[in-house]
Amino acid sequence: MGSCTLSSGGVCVILLALACCLTCACGAVKALYVLGDSQADVGNNNYLPQSVLKANFPHNGIDYPGGKPTGRFSNGYNFVDLVARSLGVPSPPPYRSIRSNELNSSVYLKSVNFASGGAGVSNLTNMGQCISFDEQIERDYYRVHEVLEEQLGMREAKAHLAKSLFVIAIGGNDIINHVLFSPVSELLRSRDEIVTELGETLKRQLQTLYDRGMRRLFFVGAAPLGCCPLIRQLSPTKECDAQANYMSTRYNDAAIVLLRDMSETHPDFTYSFFDTFTALLQSIRDPEAHGYKEVKAACCGLGDNNAMFLCSPASLYCENRTSYMFWDVVHPTQITVEKLMKIAFDGSAPLE
Ligand SMILES: *[C@@H]1O[C@H](CO)[C@@H](O)[C@H](O)[C@H]1NC(C)=O
Ligand SMILES: *[C@@H]1O[C@H](CO)[C@@H](O)[C@H](O)[C@H]1NC(C)=O
Ligand SMILES: *[C@@H]1O[C@H](CO)[C@@H](O)[C@H](O)[C@H]1NC(C)=O
Repeated sequence: MGSCTLSSGGVCVILLALACCLTCACGAVKALYVLGDSQADVGNNNYLPQSVLKANFPHNGIDYPGGKPTGRFSNGYNFVDLVARSLGVPSPPPYRSIRSNELNSSVYLKSVNFASGGAGVSNLTNMGQCISFDEQIERDYYRVHEVLEEQLGMREAKAHLAKSLFVIAIGGNDIINHVLFSPVSELLRSRDEIVTELGETLKRQLQTLYDRGMRRLFFVGAAPLGCCPLIRQLSPTKECDAQANYMSTRYNDAAIVLLRDMSETHPDFTYSFFDTFTALLQSIRDPEAHGYKEVKAACCGLGDNNAMFLCSPASLYCENRTSYMFWDVVHPTQITVEKLMKIAFDGSAPLE
């Protein structure tokens, strides 16, 4: 127990930890409970009439079975689908699509995805456009937890959750919004403070989930957000934005420290932190070696580098989606998440 904690550092350490968490230390996974942002959303935002942060229209889903848009911000599957596949369980349905069945816990016992595009650690991030991370936890997950306890009893609900895997991807939108919308005068002064604040909020949120049964966690760290087409486009030289990347690294450092602290405080808590930042940056620095032809432009969009607008039916899109790192201005292609999850599950990553 507690053996899945790890030191920060190379991707190798991290993926060994994931393999360990999921197989040797903890046994088979009963169910997946997924929280977070658009990387993980499989259609919850389709149910938010007032939100513009949606992906349930073409050309999203062009490589999904049937070529159908589902609400995933991707040309095909997202990383949660691949985690589920690797564990041999179905990809969890959006919570919003199964809410009407809530009196029957058998649905909740299987797996649930609470993630919502646009969500951030801070409940101010894209407020009103998404289901905030706090709402995902304190309203939606609490409800599921309550139903499980009512119908299974406390002890069995606890045992079920302890054998389940929680998957969380959150924090990127807080950083993107800060870089895009903060006054320049504030940027240098407050970015450390902002990351510290995010770390403190995240700590409260993860502790809350622990208190309600989370014992195994796969946490996906922030990507090198300064390199996504949206942020790159802001730079006169079209290089990766150093400030956004700095915030991603600092946020990841904060997350690693707090996860390590949690596993020391709670010996029954195990986690693995996936270092998306390192893995993607390696590909950005040497695209060819990692099978990419294009790591700067978005596949689907409009304008310079397809980076001026989100993917929509009016957008252009690239022919060969397996050679692009980015599907739209911020989201990875299916091939990119396939490469990332292969690193996480197979341990095939090169050391830094
Ligand atoms: C709950 O749903 C399952 C299948 O979805 C069904 O077999 C079971 O009878 C239902 N239980 C109740 C109490 O409705
Ligand atoms: C947002 O979170 C803060 C605590 O971080 C809380 O005080 C506040 O009430 C929350 N606002 C909403 C609208 O949920
Ligand atoms: C698409 O791109 C991949 C990766 O660069 C390459 O291996 C493949 O041959 C390309 N397919 C076509 C049809 O050009």
